[in-house]
Amino acid sequence: MKVERKCKIVSKEQMGDAVYMVLEAGDMVRTSFRAPGQFVHVKCGEGLLLRRPISVCTCYSDEPSDLLTIVFEVRGEGTDWLARRPVGHSLDVLGLAGNGFTMKEEKAIIVGGGIGIPPMLELAKQLSCEKTVVLGYRDELFLKDEFESYADVVVATEDGSCGTKGTVIDAIKEAGVDGKVIYACGPMPMLKALAEYAEAHDMEAQISLEERMACGIGACLGCICKTKKKDHHTNVNNQRICKDGPVFDAKEVVFS
Ligand code: FES
Repeated sequence: MKVERKCKIVSKEQMGDAVYMVLEAGDMVRTSFRAPGQFVHVKCGEGLLLRRPISVCTCYSDEPSDLLTIVFEVRGEGTDWLARRPVGHSLDVLGLAGNGFTMKEEKAIIVGGGIGIPPMLELAKQLSCEKTVVLGYRDELFLKDEFESYADVVVATEDGSCGTKGTVIDAIKEAGVDGKVIYACGPMPMLKALAEYAEAHDMEAQISLEERMACGIGACLGCICKTKKKDHHTNVNNQRICKDGPVFDAKEVVFS
């Protein structure tokens, strides 16, 4: 059950181009956590009506208050407002929302690209089977040490300053990473390439999509993506990223 809470910012730090925040979330994790890959919908600004969807990086059930970590980049007025909130400020947060990853007990490749890296940390923490993490950075590394507490980590950078110079697919090939299931979050070209790679290698791929959202509860149809499966709600081949996703089977997604 998704709940609306006042969540106090207990710490905040800059992490590369992104902002890392720890929030006290009341009983939000205890009452609405279903799987890694869910997001929270955060009200950004007094005057702004729209909430911003932000992926959960890690979450902890705890008494008297659960903890959530979120990581986001400043991309506009709303996230700029959010980034400037001080420690101690209480945010209006709706969550945990959406459907996360379906965790399989099969050898896994966990892939994160750019700002799609943080949402994969909780999955790396919770997935108990054999796994390798592949992280794609533009240049500056972040969260690599945290991932290394849970799995072997392979890195790709655009500028070649660390690991493989190139894409996460280049890194998978160069390091000989294999598995049965790919779990991924990151930019659309990366997800498309992983979907094709998975299909060519007879692997399953679960991908987390990102979209601007308005209602965040499946009502406005403002966050649709084209899929091969009909949405029972609209009876067309669209799915709502906020409600049906954000994680989809890559085979269902129609990449434009
Ligand atoms: Fe309204 Fe997804 S944001 S349906």
